[in-house]
Amino acid sequence: MALNGKIAVVTGAAQGIGRAITELLLQNGAKVALLDANKTNGESLKEVLDKLFGEQTTLFLHCNVESEEQIKAAFQKTLGTFGRIDILCNNAGILNEEEWEKTISINLAAVVRTTYMALEHMNKMTGGQGGVIVNTASMAGLGPLKCCPVYTATKHGVVGFTRAMAAASTAAGYGIRFNAICPGLVKTEMLSSLSNKLGQFSHLAEETNTIIADKKMLNVTEVADCLLELVTDETKNGEALQVRCNGKKYMTFPVFT
Ligand SMILES: NC(=O)c1ccc[n+]([C@@H]2O[C@H](COP(=O)([O-])OP(=O)(O)OC[C@H]3O[C@@H](n4cnc5c(N)ncnc54)[C@H](O)[C@@H]3O)[C@@H](O)[C@H]2O)c1
Repeated sequence: MALNGKIAVVTGAAQGIGRAITELLLQNGAKVALLDANKTNGESLKEVLDKLFGEQTTLFLHCNVESEEQIKAAFQKTLGTFGRIDILCNNAGILNEEEWEKTISINLAAVVRTTYMALEHMNKMTGGQGGVIVNTASMAGLGPLKCCPVYTATKHGVVGFTRAMAAASTAAGYGIRFNAICPGLVKTEMLSSLSNKLGQFSHLAEETNTIIADKKMLNVTEVADCLLELVTDETKNGEALQVRCNGKKYMTFPVFT
């Protein structure tokens, strides 16, 4: 899939992995609507991107993905400006075991909400032109991160939802590919003061903190590069791509019969 002229929506685009995805999509000729709940970071990133790629190539839309209304408004604005949506990256996420209901709301419920909203515009069965949706899951979507049971549950949920949507799309002819990226620890703000976000599990943070201290972490561009493969490679559908410091791997799963 060539990216030149394609229109992408990226959630959680103002910093971290979402910012790296946005920059890579722009470098490859796509136009991007950046959705984020952090207005200050979003607006200052937009200024940087305007200088690098031109004002017409991006939109910053202040949007909390927990709000159906705000997602709807963001999609309408994107369609009104760019005319179509080809790519959705559901990337916004938090790690907070103390606020576990909010973690489920942002990391899983919002992925479902935004995906269904995108389907209304992208689904070939209802007049859309198809495309690709890539969800940012985590290694915690493939196996347990013991200090974060709820984060683990949400990311397993994202992997399962992604794979089931891919199967549904293939069976029903939506013309949309669905893939999940599952990075290990990545150097972003999410991991700062981790122990304060673990609530009753803060005493289990040691292993994760050791990895962080040893700097055995991915950087955001390594993750974005792998994510781009899931966007552009049209043979990839229903994939969960594990990304670690020592390489990447497409996961295999038992078949549900
Ligand atoms: N950092 C890691 O080690 C790591 C590893 C694997 C997966 N991930 C996943 O990658 C994704 C991005 O995380 P990151 O590490 O770049 O974190 P980050 O904290 O640097 O960035 C997250 C972005 O999401 C935005 N966001 C949070 N809640 C939102 C909401 N309700 N509505 C809209 N925007 C919201 C934030 O404002 C922020 O800009 C998350 O889904 C995270 O779970 C991170």
